[in-house]
This record gives sequence, structure tokens and C-alpha cells, in this order.
Amino acid sequence: MSRLKRVLIVLGSVAAVLIAAIGGGFLWLYADAKVSTAGSTEFTRELAIPPLAQSTVRADGTRVFDLTMRAGRKEFEPGKQTPTWGFNGDYLGPTLRAERGEKVAVRIKNTLDEASTVHWHGMHLPAKMDGGPHQMVAPGGSWTPNWTVDQPASTLWYHPHPHGATEKHVQRGLAGMFLLDDARSKGLALPRTYGVDDLPVVVQDVKFDGATFDHGHGLMASVGFLGDRTMVNGTPDPYKQVGDERIRLRLLNASTARVYTFGFDDDRRFALIGTDGGLLERPASMDRVRLSPGERAEIVVTMKPGERTVLRSYPLDAGLDFWNQRFSGGDDSFDVLQLRAAATLRPSPDVPARLGELEVPDGKDTVRGRHFDLRMSGINGRSMEMSRIDETVTRGTSETWTVRNDNGMPHNFHVHDVQFRVLEVDGEKPPAELLGAKDTVYLPSGTTMKLAMRFDGPADPDTPYMYHCHLLYHEDAGMMGQFVVVEKGQQAGKVRTPHAHAWH
Ligand code: C2O
Ligand code: CU
Ligand code: CU
Repeated sequence: MSRLKRVLIVLGSVAAVLIAAIGGGFLWLYADAKVSTAGSTEFTRELAIPPLAQSTVRADGTRVFDLTMRAGRKEFEPGKQTPTWGFNGDYLGPTLRAERGEKVAVRIKNTLDEASTVHWHGMHLPAKMDGGPHQMVAPGGSWTPNWTVDQPASTLWYHPHPHGATEKHVQRGLAGMFLLDDARSKGLALPRTYGVDDLPVVVQDVKFDGATFDHGHGLMASVGFLGDRTMVNGTPDPYKQVGDERIRLRLLNASTARVYTFGFDDDRRFALIGTDGGLLERPASMDRVRLSPGERAEIVVTMKPGERTVLRSYPLDAGLDFWNQRFSGGDDSFDVLQLRAAATLRPSPDVPARLGELEVPDGKDTVRGRHFDLRMSGINGRSMEMSRIDETVTRGTSETWTVRNDNGMPHNFHVHDVQFRVLEVDGEKPPAELLGAKDTVYLPSGTTMKLAMRFDGPADPDTPYMYHCHLLYHEDAGMMGQFVVVEKGQQAGKVRTPHAHAWH
């Protein structure tokens, strides 16, 4: 054999081995990326129900809550103490509850050794009270936002929003629900005994490394952190004993990146009664409801005496490409919560045929359109800048925002202060689950949505609200922008950047 031939054979075999190794490595990563707890979960722990927050009422009628952000430890697994953060406790926070028309104030204390914020996701309120990255609470500091609740009954939530660190603060355990009631919702024959037939269901995916959380991002996961199991209200493998025929579940996706497709293991149908911003006009019967990070859905499920059913998250059917389907968690499935019906159940009335009244605009009074192009590198080509106002909207007007994701990876879109109506998804009428008031929507790559919203809060040219992708890793990386609400003819003001150490 010539020397050249021998060299070629050696090089050829080295290349073959390399290709096999890389291919094998990829196959391993591909196989390893898929996780499932569906069908293999033993429901061993009773579901924790976050306590309803205590409140006092001041002479002027203001309902006052206290929230203390603190470090703690929690035994998720027997014998293992996991370091955590929580509001008023070790993990997550109490459920705040107020009524439309009420004045509320929340006394926040930050006892962590890092600055943070508390944002009221879905709440219509003045920009200064919003708890976004401009309302930092220093370590040892406090902050008492107050506002008047002026929006329909709904399931909202609260969580930190420090620019660049939201993913970390939320996944350590800082999140809670904020429920609103109104005169109409209180008169409806819906399940509404908190913790009994009306259950908060805060869903998070987690991963443990021994006793501690493993918050690492997968090698191929461009969406951020994906866990290998789920918890509800901080309870792993949860079951809930129920004694009523109809159970209302207030589903909140409080995960940082994962999209859930909720249904039941026996494919039973349920009634969707509410979305992010409140009750639908009428219930919609379905067997799946999809929620991306930050989104909520209220559903009513009917139980038979003695039976068990499992709330499950099914693989995602969103037309993702092969790569994103696997590495963004689309092939994963989870047993989320088991419901165990008592041998005899209290009868519940039928779900009313008429529920809420939508207060979101229908697009007919739109005075202006805007476009938002979602990219991981930034929205409309710009990465978040604390001192830059991206959009200025006029108080008292409605707008139509066209949001497009063409970025080759999944995103969602959340707007502070407002609820919106989804007018169109890729030029079509939206599906039933998007017909209610929304503040967050999921956009797989290749999707364009038109959203109608009205800005009727107080003008404040100097304090911005945020719009952003609610995949928290993307948000932290700069997939966020700022808008101010001004009076007609007014200009946006100058935003000061809080000093850097406060938000790093
Ligand atoms: Cu749930 Cu800007 O946040
Ligand atoms: Cu928000
Ligand atoms: Cu994103």
C-alpha cells in the first residue's frame, strides 16, 4: 500500500469515529431531553393549599396586606431540606383576595440579601405601583404600593421582576396568587369555597440535585430551564380529596419556560370558564387547555362519587419543528395532580350558561396599530434598556398590537397593566381558549397575532410599564420593552435607571 493510501485510511477511520461519536452524543442528548412522569406517578402527598392572606381594613377602607420576602428551607422530599425563598413562608406565598372597587395596599418587606420587586401580573394599576424593574426593593427595604381594584373578577398572580434575575427569583419560590371578585362573580353558581371546591393550582416544573434545586439549563434548551417533574402549590406528587360534584381549578403556569397542555388522564371534558383576565362570556367545553408561562385558566371539572382522575400535561401540539418539539419540552408529559372523590359528593349546580362580561375592546375603536417582532435578541431588534422608552400610548385610547414570532423558537407575549382581546391568530378567528380577556399569549414560531387593548389608567410619562416574553430566561436576556401612558399630546418623560447594584 502506498503511504498516501495508509494515511487516507487512518484519516477516514478517525473521521468515521468522530462522526459516530457526535451522532451518538446527539442521540443521547435527544433521548435524554424527553421527560415524562405520566402514568408512573404515585400520588403520595396531600396538596398544600396556600393560605388566604390576612388583611386589615384601614379607616379609609383600604385593605392592607403584608408580604415579606424571605429565605427558608422546605422538605419537598422526606429528609431533604431544600434552600428556598418565599413570601411569608418557606416557599411560594399566600393567596391575596380583594374585591372590585376596593382600595388595597400591600406592605412589602425584603429580608433577602438581594434586591427584588413584587409585580402584580394581570393587574390594572398605576405604573408606579406595578412592581416592575423600576420599583426595586433593596435588601432590608420595604415598599407599600396601593391602588384601587378596577377590573373584573379574575385569577391574577404576583412575582418578582428584577431586570436580569426574574428567572432565578421566581424559581426559588417567589410567587403567589391574587384573586379578584366582583358583584357579578359573587352571584354566579360556580364553585367558590377556597381550598374546598375552588382550588388554586400553581404549576411549576422542578429538578432536584440531592436536596437542592438544580436550575441549570439543558445543553440544547434555548427556552431556559426545564424541570423533570412538576409540583403544584409546592407539593410534589400531589393528590387532593374532594367532596363536591364540581371542582373549579384555577390553573396558573408559574413555570419559567415550560408550556403545559392540560387535560385529564381519562380524556374527560371540562368547562373552561375563565382566562387570564377573568370569566368568559359563556363556558366552553374542551378536553385540553394550553398554558404558557404566566397564563391562567379557570376550569370546572365534574366528579363521580369514589372516582379518581389525574390532571395531566400532554405533549405539545403546536406545530413545532422536530428540534424545538424535543428540546423545548414539547414531547414531555406530566402527571400533575390527582383528584380523589369522596364516596358521596355534595351536589353542585350546573355551570351557568352566562358567566362574565368581557371588558376588552373588540378592535373597532382602535386609533393606532403597532408591530412587535419577537426575537430572543430583543423585541423589534432592540434589547431591553431600562432608560429607553420604546412606545408611548395615549391614555383613553384603544390600540391593536400585531405580534409576530418568526424566530425559530417558542416565545410568548405579556403586556403589563392591560387585558387584551385576541382578534386574530394567523388571520383566523382565535380558538375557544383565546376568546376571553388575556394578558399573556403563546406564540410558537411562525405565528402572528392581533391583540386589541385599551389604555385607560392614569397617565405617567416618567414611569414605564413592560411588555415582554414571559419565558423568564428570554425576559432576563433582554426580550422586553417599555411603554408609557401619556395624556393626549404629551411626550414621554425621562426614565432614570436605578443604580446598577440594585438589580444585579
Ligand atoms: Cu408576570 Cu412582566 O410579568
Ligand atoms: Cu405582568
Ligand atoms: Cu421568548
